[in-house]
Amino acid sequence: MHIPVLLNESIDSLDLKQKNIVVDATVNRAGHSLSIAKKIGHSGTLICIDLDKDALDDAEKFLNKNLKAKERPEIFFINDNFRNLEKILENLKIKKIDGLVADLGVSSQEIDDSGRGFSFQRDEPLLMTLKNPIVKGDLTAEYIVNNWQEETLADIIYYYSDERYAKRIARNIIEARRGKEIKTTFQLVDIISKSVPVNYKHSKTHFATKTFQAIRIATNDEIGAEGDLLLALEKVLKEKGRASIITFHSGEDRVLKKFVKANKEILKLVKFENKKDFLEPSREEIKSNVRSRSAKLRVIEKI
Ligand SMILES: C[S@@+](CC[C@H](N)C(=O)[O-])C[C@H]1O[C@@H](n2cnc3c(N)ncnc32)[C@H](O)[C@@H]1O
Repeated sequence: MHIPVLLNESIDSLDLKQKNIVVDATVNRAGHSLSIAKKIGHSGTLICIDLDKDALDDAEKFLNKNLKAKERPEIFFINDNFRNLEKILENLKIKKIDGLVADLGVSSQEIDDSGRGFSFQRDEPLLMTLKNPIVKGDLTAEYIVNNWQEETLADIIYYYSDERYAKRIARNIIEARRGKEIKTTFQLVDIISKSVPVNYKHSKTHFATKTFQAIRIATNDEIGAEGDLLLALEKVLKEKGRASIITFHSGEDRVLKKFVKANKEILKLVKFENKKDFLEPSREEIKSNVRSRSAKLRVIEKI
């Protein structure tokens, strides 16, 4: 099961009302969408976006089952990249939105059940594409590890996950692919295992975690997509409209902070009761949902 992260905090911060038009840019199994739908009610409009068609179909079933007809807003299900937000809204003839939530990255189901190679604990084809279905020509993790240059591999592994053994891992990927194409997750785990010292394998976090995260981010151009979403947001958010963005690593958070700072005439970060401009999950939430441990919520407001 995918347990929604920072659910109440992210939705309450949007200050939603009946009739509002709201986007859930990363609907997955609709954890956040259900809560939004209940707040905006029958007169509201909810636009549910996900790159993963299976997730979107499950979200539709989940919302149908859990919303009574009289509380159900008008809901659109869109299998697309949230970086196309402006175009998506244009197609729906919607000019401005009151709120948006984006709970970035990958879901527990995608890691555990998609068969697309997100988990270093299962032997699967090395795809790592959030886009589902994928079509010929879509970038995959397999293409990256078999074709990108050593320096580029080292850079992405270092910059997208702060992996201190990035250079060694990149060198060993090049070495391994000279002998045989790298096609599965376990082949990659094996290469990483040979690249890191023994004591690194005894740390709390699995030694392949960071490399897998970095290659997934590169495969899906996650930082680029986030940047495009922010650019669109600046245009489509109504005055006083808000967007709750949940990030899971420092790279994602940096992009957000920089963007708001660069656009401080029109955007600001909302301050919470703790006087900070971000919230992290409580100890209880982390205990009951370990995936939330690196989450950070920031709320952007259009001035
Ligand atoms: C962490 S999950 C969201 C979980 C959801 N909030 C819930 O509580 O059920 C992230 C979802 O965003 C989707 N996703 C990631 N990047 C995307 C993008 N650029 N465009 C559209 N969907 C994206 C993933 O496929 C995944 O389903």
